[in-house]
Amino acid sequence: MNNNYDKIANHYDTLSRLVFFKSQVNAQVNQLQYIPKDSSVLIAGGGTGWILEEITKIYPSGLKIVYVEISAKMIALSQKREFKNNQVKFVNLGIEDFSTDTVFDVVLTPFLFR
Ligand SMILES: C[S@@+](CC[C@H](N)C(=O)[O-])C[C@H]1O[C@@H](n2cnc3c(N)ncnc32)[C@H](O)[C@@H]1O
Repeated sequence: MNNNYDKIANHYDTLSRLVFFKSQVNAQVNQLQYIPKDSSVLIAGGGTGWILEEITKIYPSGLKIVYVEISAKMIALSQKREFKNNQVKFVNLGIEDFSTDTVFDVVLTPFLFR
């Protein structure tokens, strides 16, 4: 599948907030309270990784997160985020090409669209 987000990765968060204000951020942050402690979390299409920092504000440790992103630039930005002692595995693939034996407690697909 094509990756359309590399070209705008550095500016994505600014552009998103210009268009949607913080509605996309708030919709996601609102759901994070439902992540169980010490759980396994799959995030597909997490963008620049700001959501990792929001999750880390709630749980600075104990989570096992798999972060599947089709854009290599989004992955690179996400790897620089603060996720403290949570375990984060970054996978640069389209979610449709990702396979795993892991059973996830939570699956987040935050505004996953092309
Ligand atoms: C609209 S952006 C949303 C980014 C982030 N969730 C946010 O709310 O700021 C969609 C993200 O999904 C990624 N994406 C698009 N199609 C994908 C796919 N098939 N598999 C994994 N990631 C994908 C894009 O690279 C982009 O980072």
